[in-house]
Amino acid sequence: MAVERTFVAVKPDGVERILVGEVVGRFEKRGLKIVGMKFMKVTKEMAEQHYGEHKGKPFYDGLVSYITSGPIVAMALEGKNAVALARQTIGATKPQDAAPGTIRGDLAVEIGRNIVHGSDSPENGQREIGIFFKPEELVEWSGSLNKWIWE
Ligand code: RTP
Ligand code: MG
Repeated sequence: MAVERTFVAVKPDGVERILVGEVVGRFEKRGLKIVGMKFMKVTKEMAEQHYGEHKGKPFYDGLVSYITSGPIVAMALEGKNAVALARQTIGATKPQDAAPGTIRGDLAVEIGRNIVHGSDSPENGQREIGIFFKPEELVEWSGSLNKWIWE
């Protein structure tokens, strides 16, 4: 399995609910390496690019206004199988379907307030990181604990 990058964000509800540390901590503890992180507002243009695949769906307008409603914490995470690992830590889209132990299963109740985003494929990981980060905002580093996390 090649090393992948995934885009993860604490959405505005997660920030408002003071869950940034809780959410970031779960990815750190899982073993995914942070290679980019910033606190920022999402513009309408960025939201439309990011959620382009959902354009035309009934929830699209609400989704764009939700993600642009307040600051987010944007993260680029790296590791073998990073996309699937992050999605598993996040849990199912609908919080009522999300397993206990996942972020959404433990902390959320509404699909439109589900706290966190994670890319759904390595290609989308790269694409979404490109929307939210400039290349120089991504940091190459080798964590000293990596040899205890990855074989
Ligand atoms: P995300 O992209 O945020 O990580 O979530 P996901 O892959 O689990 O779900 P996705 O299908 O990509 O949907 C993106 C976000 O749109 C909202 N949504 N609402 N009302 C609805 O039927 C509905 N469906 C999706 C959710 O906030 C979801 O996270
Ligand atoms: Mg998605």
